[in-house]
Amino acid sequence: MNLLRFDSEGAWVAGVASLWRDRLQTNPRLRMCLPSGNTPIRIYAAMAESVKHGLVSFRDAEIFALDDYGGLAPDDEGKCVNMLRRHLVDHIDLPKGRFHFIDTDAADLESVCREYDRLIGDSFDLTLLGIGLNGHLGLNEPGSSPDSATRRVEMHASTIGASANYLKHANLPTWGVGVGLKPLLGSKEVWLLANGAKKAEIIRRAVKGEITTEIPASLLRKHPNSCLFVDAEAGALL
Ligand code: PGA
Repeated sequence: MNLLRFDSEGAWVAGVASLWRDRLQTNPRLRMCLPSGNTPIRIYAAMAESVKHGLVSFRDAEIFALDDYGGLAPDDEGKCVNMLRRHLVDHIDLPKGRFHFIDTDAADLESVCREYDRLIGDSFDLTLLGIGLNGHLGLNEPGSSPDSATRRVEMHASTIGASANYLKHANLPTWGVGVGLKPLLGSKEVWLLANGAKKAEIIRRAVKGEITTEIPASLLRKHPNSCLFVDAEAGALL
């Protein structure tokens, strides 16, 4: 896993956005898997600005949402699909049918998962990921199999607690559906993003500790083309 460390959060945002524009310019048909959450918000804003100023286009690209919570109202602002729309998809020139997300309200979740994996196909070109305080990647909680497919997951207590960051109510989700580790680790390129002091300890464990399914992010160290982007605070213990 390569490591790119930036002096400030602003430089981190600019650095990720610059490389992302580069990837889209090189391959306009880039197929991406993207996270919601707080980590990528400023990066998404930078990409939206880039589209607005004609520096880059998502016209021929494709975006897959990394995961979503179950049991929330479809218009809940904390649902991952709505966060992705609000922070990125609504502000870029991606054609409607090229944004894929997971319908966690469907009666037959198993077929939703199989269809999502079918749409994902062989692999993503580029996957962006945040990291949970327990080292999870999307909804791949500690202990997830590296072979896992898109599936329903019961969330760990810390993940349930963290969902409160995105919600305006106390009805926290306890489960969700997330893209499995197999398609994520099979992505041609993976970028793990972390900013802020509260991520420093889990980044240290993911980078310097044992490579173990107990810290899913540590598995990225075996990926042939993965990169960790940290700001000074998140990278302070490296
Ligand atoms: P965050 O969430 O970006 O809101 O910190 C990351 C995660 O839990 O995967």
